[in-house]
Amino acid sequence: MTTNEVIIFDTTLRDGEQSPGAAMTKEEKIRIARQLEKLGVNVIEAGFAAASPGDFDAIHTVADLIHNSTVCSLARASEKDVRRAGEAIQPAMQHAEKNGRIHTFIATSKIHMENKLRMTEDQVVERAVQAVKWALEYTNDVEFSAEDAVRSEMDFLVRVFDAVIEAGATTINVPDTVGYSIPAPWGERMATLIARVKGADKVVWSTHCHNDLGMAVANSLSAVANGARQVECTINGLGERAGNASLEEVVMAIRTRKDFFNLETRIDATQIVPASKLVSTITGYPVQPNKAIVGANAFAHESGIHQDGVLKHRETYEIMRAEDVGWNTNKLTLGKLSGRNAFRTRLRELGIDLGSEDALNAAFARFKALADKKSEIFDEDLHALVSDEFISEDNEQYKLVFLKVASQTGEVPHAVITLSDGDEEKRAEAEGGGPVDATFKAIENIVDSGAELLLYSVNNITSGTDAQGEVTVRLSKGGRIVNGQGADTDIVIASAKAYLNGLNKLETKAEKLNPQV
Ligand code: KIV
Ligand code: ZN
Repeated sequence: MTTNEVIIFDTTLRDGEQSPGAAMTKEEKIRIARQLEKLGVNVIEAGFAAASPGDFDAIHTVADLIHNSTVCSLARASEKDVRRAGEAIQPAMQHAEKNGRIHTFIATSKIHMENKLRMTEDQVVERAVQAVKWALEYTNDVEFSAEDAVRSEMDFLVRVFDAVIEAGATTINVPDTVGYSIPAPWGERMATLIARVKGADKVVWSTHCHNDLGMAVANSLSAVANGARQVECTINGLGERAGNASLEEVVMAIRTRKDFFNLETRIDATQIVPASKLVSTITGYPVQPNKAIVGANAFAHESGIHQDGVLKHRETYEIMRAEDVGWNTNKLTLGKLSGRNAFRTRLRELGIDLGSEDALNAAFARFKALADKKSEIFDEDLHALVSDEFISEDNEQYKLVFLKVASQTGEVPHAVITLSDGDEEKRAEAEGGGPVDATFKAIENIVDSGAELLLYSVNNITSGTDAQGEVTVRLSKGGRIVNGQGADTDIVIASAKAYLNGLNKLETKAEKLNPQV
């Protein structure tokens, strides 16, 4: 099927979630799904229904709430997986648009078939066909992926795709599962498949590229130039290992180089930066400053020659406008005098539903406390504040009660902390190399978690010295990796909150829905 539209299939909530520590709660998935709908993505892959009851529930709820994007569940090519996916997307099938998709996959490379699946080629073809037929019992929108297509033999790929199209698959996805390809051969592979597979003109051809060699976007675009009309991608390029193709780069390349592609997407580009910030806040994965489109420096001109050129004529050095992708749209939303109704309304506009009046009241109280410290409250502040609210709704073992840190030139930094540990309050103090180090040591004097700190990062949520600092810590214990986050205008307090949030996640195993663990 060749049209002028490239379908944007977002897999932030499934493949993106497979990044270490990026597992999300149901509420977090819902918030991201609402933003993806606003962004205009055609398909939201909301998770992997058979992986856990929690992920099933998250997909089911997203399928219920989202009307303007198709909601999809991944499923291995097994009856149990496909039926779970079918049940998870049911609410979407009740919408007038019947916008639920099942995405089933099986590996087709020799290395995977022999070593992982221990299946023959005939068995793989039979199972793939069967999976598509099971899926068709639930929806007419069935996608089939040949996992590790990049290392699969062309003749066998053609045979599998012939068979699944005959069985009724409507989208055929060609994944570079291991990020091995380079642009020219990847485009050629797509063109050859479209030329050789029977019924190729009846289906949408899709590409799904991982970024192990840093070429996921280039490979995806090469596939598009050779006939693919669906790109699977994630916000900020999040995903397994080095990530997936980044949605914002794919979309903006197609849009900015319309002269070359002559294609379109239905994405509302002004929602790109808000989506990037939301995903970064929720997953704790910061965006590198020089990242294309969504990095803080993506539109900053440092050199005098560039600045002079841009001032005289913008297009001398700019191929896109910052405002077109949602920069500078961070509206000053609320202030110290804003009331509860204005707060509720703005949350609603941002697609945030706190679920109960009590939660709204608690969030409003935090908002007032923040507004006392920070005169201007932006959407990003509200997202961080609400993330904190969802975090504190979970069963928290540890809560910050009090923190005092002394830091002075020539003196060793010293922290005194009081935590509630369940029903008990505990106090400890410690010295450290810096105020944050002293704080973490004081916490450990109480908790003695045995967790290893893999990452500590601080980002300012908005600009200015009164901005909230958003701290991310990545902790590992017993093979489990979690990201903890905390935001505050005081970065030492934000650090303590982030560290405690990480420890709480390690304590409450059920709360995140990481299907891969
Ligand atoms: O990378 C991959 O092959 C996948 C498939 C499940 C599409 O994520
Ligand atoms: Zn993948």
